[in-house]
Amino acid sequence: MKQNSRFLILFLSSINVFFKITGAAPASLPSSAIFPALIVFGDSYADTGNNNYLNTIAKCNFPPYGINFEGGIPTGRFGDGEVFPDLIGSLLSEGLGIKRTIPASLDPTLTSKDLLTGVSFASGGSGFNPWISQSRSALSMEGQLKKLEEYIEKLKKIGGEETTDDIISKSLFLVVSGSNDVPSAAAGNLQYDVESYTSSVIKFASDFMKKLYRYGARRILVVGVPPFGCLPSQRTLGGGLQRDCDQDYNNASKLFNSKLSSMLDSLSPTLQDTKLVYFDYYNSLLELIQSPQRYGFEVVDRGCCGTGLIETLLLCNRYTSSICPNISAYLFWDAYHPSERANRILISKLLEKSVPMLL
Ligand SMILES: *[C@@H]1O[C@H](CO)[C@@H](O)[C@H](O)[C@H]1NC(C)=O
Ligand SMILES: *[C@@H]1O[C@H](CO)[C@@H](O)[C@H](O)[C@H]1NC(C)=O
Repeated sequence: MKQNSRFLILFLSSINVFFKITGAAPASLPSSAIFPALIVFGDSYADTGNNNYLNTIAKCNFPPYGINFEGGIPTGRFGDGEVFPDLIGSLLSEGLGIKRTIPASLDPTLTSKDLLTGVSFASGGSGFNPWISQSRSALSMEGQLKKLEEYIEKLKKIGGEETTDDIISKSLFLVVSGSNDVPSAAAGNLQYDVESYTSSVIKFASDFMKKLYRYGARRILVVGVPPFGCLPSQRTLGGGLQRDCDQDYNNASKLFNSKLSSMLDSLSPTLQDTKLVYFDYYNSLLELIQSPQRYGFEVVDRGCCGTGLIETLLLCNRYTSSICPNISAYLFWDAYHPSERANRILISKLLEKSVPMLL
């Protein structure tokens, strides 16, 4: 407990340092990392390049993706720069063992050292529902767990069984999924209604959490889905002439999130010594959309890539799409994914709230 509160103070002050003096060298903080590694599952919001190695069209390893990433390199991250895992990793790395950017687990060049501080198994296009992942040739959540199993075996070879158990039990597990499940339900193109479909997805999500627990995870942070109706592409498709937020889609997102959060609340006490913490991405992102001036955004209803009305993935490419003159003024990078700057603002709030609950 004492160690935890000392960590918290260090952690909260490192958040301040990070946001006030960007680019400053990290202070030398204790090496006894509270989270030795960050281990990530989910969809395009968390994929750091796995889909580059899969036979899927859900890819973005071409310009202008990655224009704000170190050196302007398209790495397969679904955005202009760093994504959730990197942003969390860089905040935690200020005082802890985790490295700045979180590598993709399918990258064949990963070293043992890379493995020790964590990886992302996430795959763009995947969903909690295995059928969704399959329909997009993405690595399913079950497939991602298989990769975790291989990862644990590799850790054991490097550091032995006891060290591995210790790393796994103390690591931060990040789960960012649902973003491909929910729109399918909202579009009404499935045989179920939104109410029963969201419940069936939650059942998959709950099974996933229990499996993570069986692999040894004890600190699990779960990010809810964004307000889909306010994503630029959905404003175009369902928002009418004014391109308003599509309330059907927003309602489906809210319904899914409320079921996800109550599932986590009821599951958490049944898993010994385990913290399952939910992050409300919906309302955090909505706040940026509704009060853009407060955060220095000028455009919230179009993406920066192309016309911003619909372009994402293959449609956002250097041959057909010019990009907006000032990305910093845009909340969304493409018509589906928030910009690095927007997510960075949200991540700082997320960690400030969630880390104390995970300890
Ligand atoms: C969204 O949900 C609200 C509150 O549950 C409801 O009043 C409204 O009619 C719903 N809107 C749509 C378009 O389904
Ligand atoms: C870009 O947008 C940001 C945020 O609105 C603003 O602070 C900055 O001055 C803009 N830069 C240019 C060159 O217009």
